[in-house]
Amino acid sequence: MKILAVGDIIGENGLRKAKEVLPQIKEKENIDFIIMNGENSAEGMGITRKLYEQMIEMGVDVVTLGNHTWAKKEIFTFIDTEKKLIRPANYPEGVPGKGYVITEKNGKKIAVINLIGRTEMNILTENPFIIGKKIINSLKKEVDIIIVDFHAEASAEKIAMGYYLDGEANIVFGTHTHVQTADEQILEKGTAYITDIGMTGPKKSVIGMDVDVSIKRFVTTLPERYKIATGKCVFSGCIFEINDDTCRITNIKRVKM
Ligand SMILES: [Fe+2]
Ligand SMILES: [Fe+2]
Repeated sequence: MKILAVGDIIGENGLRKAKEVLPQIKEKENIDFIIMNGENSAEGMGITRKLYEQMIEMGVDVVTLGNHTWAKKEIFTFIDTEKKLIRPANYPEGVPGKGYVITEKNGKKIAVINLIGRTEMNILTENPFIIGKKIINSLKKEVDIIIVDFHAEASAEKIAMGYYLDGEANIVFGTHTHVQTADEQILEKGTAYITDIGMTGPKKSVIGMDVDVSIKRFVTTLPERYKIATGKCVFSGCIFEINDDTCRITNIKRVKM
């Protein structure tokens, strides 16, 4: 079985790029299951129902989110009802939506968990390590494959999570920095790990945003409003191969198109 994780979709152009690339990659790589991070799909921040539905129509099995989960108010009208949409599990109790979902595919029960980091995130969340382990312990017996999208800023926090969940989750991949890292590996106890799978959005940009606006913000420190960059898009993600009999990871491969 092959699982594809697609990095943060930046705006409608990013989503268009994914729509164009997914059929090719599905055919070439025989992809069975797709996870897509949608936190930046609505004008760079948040997600709308329409965009979520487009992702599902493309064949996406689970849409994950991150620190921009609540950026579009519309999210509150569909996050509780959409079965394939998850937000970080370590938001405080009582927050709308859910932090993980179990999907059946090719006779396997696959759990996808979304977690958010706390380093340089400026969001008051529960400890992602404790919550992540707790969820995994509660699911371990009933599912065949466990996948974690760890949405975090600090490489150290992500790498630590990889080792912490080694042998507990089949896959731990990072999102949020929008820059793909070249550290994909299978850890000692069998977990496939990569610090960040990168973004799907405008190539000439500062992590998806307009270059001039970003420079102006850094140079002047004035609160210039971010806008999404235009132009050609890049598709970034990672493919994980799992042995159908043992459910062990056999390969991890970065994708950039
Ligand atoms: Fe993002
Ligand atoms: Fe993010």
